[in-house]
This record gives sequence, C-alpha cells and structure tokens, in this order.
Amino acid sequence: MTREILHCPNLTELSRGAATLVVKRARQCVAERGLFTLVLSGGKTPLGLYEMLGQPPYLSQMPWAETHLFWGDERCVPPDSPHSNFGAAQATMLVKAPLPPENIHRMQGELPPPQGAEAYQVELQQFFGATSDCFPPFDLVLLGMGANGHTASLFPGSPLLEETQRWVVFTPPGGEPPLSRLTLSFPVINQAREVLFLVSGENKREAVRAILASPDNATHLPAARVHPQEHLCWMLDDSTLSDRRG
Ligand code: 6PG
Repeated sequence: MTREILHCPNLTELSRGAATLVVKRARQCVAERGLFTLVLSGGKTPLGLYEMLGQPPYLSQMPWAETHLFWGDERCVPPDSPHSNFGAAQATMLVKAPLPPENIHRMQGELPPPQGAEAYQVELQQFFGATSDCFPPFDLVLLGMGANGHTASLFPGSPLLEETQRWVVFTPPGGEPPLSRLTLSFPVINQAREVLFLVSGENKREAVRAILASPDNATHLPAARVHPQEHLCWMLDDSTLSDRRG
C-alpha cells in the first residue's frame, strides 16, 4: 500500500482536488474494467465535493452510467431525514447526476438496525457475486474523520473495531446526532483498492497529527486502522495542519 498526503489551502480547494481525483479514478477504472464502484462518506466535509460532481465541469466528465454508488455508513433514519447521509448526497449530487437508479445502492436506514445491516450485506454480496468469506473490492472508498478519530461509524473503544466476519455492522444509539448507525466493517473498508480521507477542521488537528506520525501507535483512533490494498490518500486543508506558530 502506498500513502499520499495532499494539503489544500481551504475546504473549497480540498473539494475541487477531490473531485478531480474521483473523476480521474472513475475514468481509469471504467477504461480498465468497465465499472467504477465508489463508496460515499457521510458528514459535512464531502458535501462540497458532491456539489462539484453534480455540476460543470465534473458532471460531464464522470462516467455515470458505469458508476455504482455505495455508502460507508448511514444513520438509522429514513432517507428523507435531515440526518440521512443518503439524503445529503441526494440533495447535493444525485438530483443532478444522470445515474441509473439501479446504480444507487443506499443503506436502508429506515429498517431496524440488525435488518438494515443484513440487507446491505446481502445487496453487496449480490452485486459483487461474492460469498461471505471474500470481502468486496471497492475501487474507491471516501472517508471522513471525527475529532476523536472515528471514521465511517467505527468509534473509539467500540467492539465493532474488532469485527472480522460481518461486512456491515450497526452501532447502538450514540454519537452526534445520537442515533444508531449502519457501517461497513474494517475488513470491507480495507479490501478496497483505494481510500481517500477528506478531513477539514481544527478540532481534528491532533488526531491527524497522531495518525500520520505513526498509525501503528495510534490504533486507539479508528481512522489509523484503515489500510487499503493499493493506495491511501489523505486530503487535508490548512485547518487540520499542526499549528505553524508552534
Ligand atoms: C457520519 C460520517 C462520519 C463523518 C465524520 C466527519 O455519518 O457522520 O460517516 O464518520 O465522516 O464524523 O464528519 P464531518 O465531515 O461532518 O466533520
């Protein structure tokens, strides 16, 4: 696995850099394999990216017909809830992107969490034609990170960090907002060819510094446990960089 750290001056430039990278990877994957499987992140940081992908110049550059969208995690709410990660991607990107409906694979946050997790694992297995003993090889997984180092909905101290079998798991109510969540497990995230972290915010500075300095010594921070098969890219804006004055 190779690792890359890209610094951007602000969130807008981070979003633009991420859009350029996503389009480049999508076109490469479609040229090589006729398909691009992209896992979207929740939270607010990627919304600028989603908006850019839904408008020129990126809108026409994306191979939407060959792109399949998935989610890394989802709050256990209906898709029209203001807390829904799917709803946020729909409002910023999906309303404009000419994706065939069958290419959108959302997590069913409206189901009771155990059923929602099981249903998504079945959908992934059917899509990848895989059995439960071989994890799906997503082309690109987008991830955010919280100030406590959580990523997707894998939180510090959670027993879900040690999951080795299930593809999709669910959390008890908690976090902000205090909801149960569905989340891909680390074996699935780490089976991806590539992971792109999009991180912005001074409150994440300490976690970013600890993870980039020595991921093996920062495994109490879930984001430090992300090791994709081929490439790991951290896209950071200036607010996450260590204090230049210090
Ligand atoms: C979620 C996300 C979560 C998010 C981080 C960062 O459902 O909220 O999956 O992991 O990526 O909490 O959130 P922000 O981008 O809003 O800071």
